[in-house]
Amino acid sequence: MVRRNEIFGISIVALLCLLLIAFSQKETTNYRRSPKYQQLIDLEESFRVSNNFTVPTPTIQDVISMQRNLLLSELHDYQFPEGDNLEDYTLFTGGQPVRTIIITTWRSGSTFLGDIINSLPGNYYHYEPLLEYGIMQIRGSPHAETALQTLRRLLNCDYTSLYSYLEYGMSHVYLFTHNTRLWNQCEMYPQYCWNYTFLNEMCRLFPFQSMKTVRLRLWLAESLLEDEDLNVKVILLVRDPRGTLQSRKHRDWCPGEPDCDQPNNLCADMVSDYSAAIQLMKNYPDRFRALRYEDLSLNPEEIVEDLFDFLGLYFHRDVKRFIDSHTRINVGGVSSTFRDSKNAPFHWRMDLNYTEVQYIEENCDEAMKLWGYVRSKNASSMREFNPLTAYDIK
Ligand SMILES: *[C@@H]1O[C@H](CO)[C@@H](O)[C@H](O)[C@H]1NC(C)=O
Ligand SMILES: *[C@@H]1O[C@H](CO)[C@@H](O)[C@H](O)[C@H]1NC(C)=O
Ligand SMILES: *[C@@H]1O[C@H](CO)[C@@H](O)[C@H](O)[C@H]1NC(C)=O
Ligand SMILES: *[C@@H]1O[C@H](CO)[C@@H](O)[C@H](O)[C@H]1NC(C)=O
Repeated sequence: MVRRNEIFGISIVALLCLLLIAFSQKETTNYRRSPKYQQLIDLEESFRVSNNFTVPTPTIQDVISMQRNLLLSELHDYQFPEGDNLEDYTLFTGGQPVRTIIITTWRSGSTFLGDIINSLPGNYYHYEPLLEYGIMQIRGSPHAETALQTLRRLLNCDYTSLYSYLEYGMSHVYLFTHNTRLWNQCEMYPQYCWNYTFLNEMCRLFPFQSMKTVRLRLWLAESLLEDEDLNVKVILLVRDPRGTLQSRKHRDWCPGEPDCDQPNNLCADMVSDYSAAIQLMKNYPDRFRALRYEDLSLNPEEIVEDLFDFLGLYFHRDVKRFIDSHTRINVGGVSSTFRDSKNAPFHWRMDLNYTEVQYIEENCDEAMKLWGYVRSKNASSMREFNPLTAYDIK
């Protein structure tokens, strides 16, 4: 009788675990636990307690092998290039991942683009690795060396000596929450979440490694491109300074921070990024791209399909589905990427007054010319003119 109960109990727990896994896969685009997901966890917990049933806690190795199986099932319909398979892309099998970095600045649409790339099955997302630097731009010494070292280590899945990065993350968990596949495991096994042994092994399972940073200026990224072993692809994401500054006005961490609220600083960076872009385009035509947020928003599916082609990634139906569901209507809060993507980039035309727009345009004349943004004529035409024109970085 006792044995039958035990077998029954084990089956129930196993079933619940399977359901949890199924749910956690469905939930990869949303790091918050859904009520249903929470219900399952509670149900499993109450079952264990009421039956005085203890299941041994999985070890790091157990969690890693569960994650491996999750990845195999997640990637079952991923189409690798002819002749390749998963082992060619994971560090733990001696392969070489597809590595991608988005270089941009605050409020330039990088949450949107970063989440699009992360909707790809098998992606591991190094979200904003330079968070601990605060509201500042890294343009050179003294911070460039340590910042680049952090990026390089993360892209190699080496968390071993990233003490301050991990320490910062423990009290600012959004360092990890955007990395949805990692975060699912962190929610289930919080005791391992910030353990570098666990993180090293977890990261090394993933064939696609993406990263985005808003704090590092483009010319510094050249040293990452130079590193042939890293074989990283870099995307510079650019936005109209009027849109960027309008959006920053509404963030409480921005006003009063000169690298954030001063048009001349933003636009000097845009000018310097432009010369760096010309240089990188010349030296690394297959591994560097510039992209305007406005173009992405007006034509997301076409642009992303083209971008994935450049990155060497398969345009999986999950990515298409993510774009479809995130580009129609405005729902959600501050950093929500659910939006009417065709209007979002041009919201500044209604929200800023003409004095503010003129002030930005005076400070941004050169940056706007280089990146193809048109100055407004007067207060009334400002509300509906087309601020976009062509740009050329060849
Ligand atoms: C649960 O099991 C343990 C060991 O088998 C026993 O010592 C304990 O008294 C049990 N608790 C309850 C509430 O049955
Ligand atoms: C990480 O986890 C392993 C295994 O549980 C443990 O031995 C090690 O001490 C942990 N490391 C840290 C830095 O907590
Ligand atoms: C424009 O907006 C700024 C900042 O919100 C405000 O200080 C200024 O008075 C406004 N100017 C006009 C002409 O409405
Ligand atoms: C504002 O500029 C537009 C476009 O150049 C022009 O057609 C319009 O007459 C101008 N309006 C005013 C009030 O100057």
